[in-house]
Amino acid sequence: MVLNKFSLKNKNILITGAAGSLGLEHSIALLNVGAKVIMTDIDLLKLNKNKVELLKKNKKFQLLCFKMDVSSESSVKKVLKNLKKKKFKIDVLINNACLNPKFDNKFKNNNTALEKFSLKNWEREIKVGLTGAFICSKIFGNYMKKNKTGGVIINIASEYSVVTPDHRIYSKNNFKPITYPVIKTGLIGLTKYLATYWIDKGIRCNAFSPGGVKENQNREFLTKVKKLIPMKRMANKNEYHSVIQFLCSDASSYLNGQNILMDGGRSIW
Ligand SMILES: NC(=O)c1ccc[n+]([C@@H]2O[C@H](COP(=O)([O-])OP(=O)(O)OC[C@H]3O[C@@H](n4cnc5c(N)ncnc54)[C@H](O)[C@@H]3O)[C@@H](O)[C@H]2O)c1
Repeated sequence: MVLNKFSLKNKNILITGAAGSLGLEHSIALLNVGAKVIMTDIDLLKLNKNKVELLKKNKKFQLLCFKMDVSSESSVKKVLKNLKKKKFKIDVLINNACLNPKFDNKFKNNNTALEKFSLKNWEREIKVGLTGAFICSKIFGNYMKKNKTGGVIINIASEYSVVTPDHRIYSKNNFKPITYPVIKTGLIGLTKYLATYWIDKGIRCNAFSPGGVKENQNREFLTKVKKLIPMKRMANKNEYHSVIQFLCSDASSYLNGQNILMDGGRSIW
């Protein structure tokens, strides 16, 4: 019998920040190939809206939704308790939640210049993007240890885990916050640690670093960013489906501790 190594049937995959733009896309990618997806987010309203839309697309999609704040141990433990009650194991954890300001016309936060960047914001953002990934990995990774078939942890980093934001593409005072590359670079350290820590229990860990996705960014930003990318465009939302499927599946069984960068070539020049 030839096993389909890309199949995600019988895999339960928990994703954080699943109400957001890419969290939803990653969920679609996984549901499309038969995974059961546990979608979690701090924003339950948006999460439930996503659920309705997904079930409209395909009523056979298998998904569960939970409100979960990744920066709160008690909130994460509550979800784990719920899953245990349902005798639901977790095969894959995707640490995706992050505070990720979008550079569209609504973006008005002018406190992102380093000189004005408050300690409060620094701590708030690190708490979600980095501490949140630590909390979820600790709690769900410990639960995964009981699986006979091991598990996978995927940390969603960014091209800014490899290069730093080019400040020239952001408009005056609306810089990409300093926390963002700090969090994303930190996630690579977390990835390497986790890739070795539970490897005797069959738990692998990798990071995925997407390049920027085209949404409703303002024209000025788009013109500048395109010049930095050899492919002269930002990514389409659905261009990350296949890499997420690969990283979650047995097709990537010998990949461990790596940072997969998919950035249209931006980082090579
Ligand atoms: N969109 C991009 O262009 C892009 C590029 C590279 C990397 N990424 C990374 O991909 C991930 C998703 O990005 P996105 O663009 O979908 O962001 P998004 O802002 O659209 O979604 C983030 C989600 O995280 C949730 N969230 C915020 N705080 C939370 C908390 N404490 N607990 C749980 N959930 C919380 C939000 O409610 C939101 O639904 C992020 O890690 C981001 O850094 C995005």
